[in-house]
Amino acid sequence: MLRSLQDRSDFRADISTLHRITTLKEVARGGEACEEIQVSGGLRIDKISHQDQIGQTPDHTRIKDPGAIAPLFERLRTKVLACVKCPNLVASRHSVVFGTGNPSAELMFVGEAPGADEDIQGEPFVGRAGELLTKIIETMGYQRSEVYIANVLKCRPDMPPGSSGNRQPTRTEMETCLPYLREQIALIQPKAMVALGATAMRGLFGKEAPMNQMRGRWHFFSSIPVMATFHPSYLLRNQALSVKRKVWEDMLQVLEKLGHPISEKQKNYFLAR
Ligand code: URA
Repeated sequence: MLRSLQDRSDFRADISTLHRITTLKEVARGGEACEEIQVSGGLRIDKISHQDQIGQTPDHTRIKDPGAIAPLFERLRTKVLACVKCPNLVASRHSVVFGTGNPSAELMFVGEAPGADEDIQGEPFVGRAGELLTKIIETMGYQRSEVYIANVLKCRPDMPPGSSGNRQPTRTEMETCLPYLREQIALIQPKAMVALGATAMRGLFGKEAPMNQMRGRWHFFSSIPVMATFHPSYLLRNQALSVKRKVWEDMLQVLEKLGHPISEKQKNYFLAR
């Protein structure tokens, strides 16, 4: 597929697409270093367009072939499952939680790190917060299996012996793991993403701002629009209707961005009567 693109003199790509192509090539070669894409050999680079800056990934630059993505995705999964970069996490983990869902999804959710349930089951968002996330996804009109769900960190942050609960991933842990999420995103090429909570935002963007400032707005990760919203665990702790409505309004913006019709019923969820 990549070779055929290089042979097409009329193929136009923006910078982010070229990054994605390079990542595809790296994954195809099992992650080893590879030469940069031949810019002169048939590929023309446009300067980053205005569209890029406002995060509308132009459809003509999308190369989505599920048949081609599947083996690359499996190769990436194998690499990530064998990761031993963080000795403390390797020593404490039961599983590496790669991600779940459709590798060709138009919508991707990104959380912070696996908790105890996810560590045992090897799947993100399967605990109480996960149940709530699944409800949100279904209320948006998707099956959980139609979207993709991953975390910034693929291993559960270790806890001191004898203590329960979860801790937030450190900045170093997130920086170490971020390349895997980048590769996942490059393969999936979602049209939009949702960042769940402040830690996911910090992991993706290095942003430290309070959630109240970041949520409800589009942020851009390699030109992919990312909606920031509250983490489902926060919703479990704070049952106020007004907070649920905020998250729902964020999801309505996502549906709008993806061009999905929004029903009257969907519009009216969590409105005070
Ligand atoms: N919280 C997260 O951020 N990710 C999970 O997978 C589970 C809970």
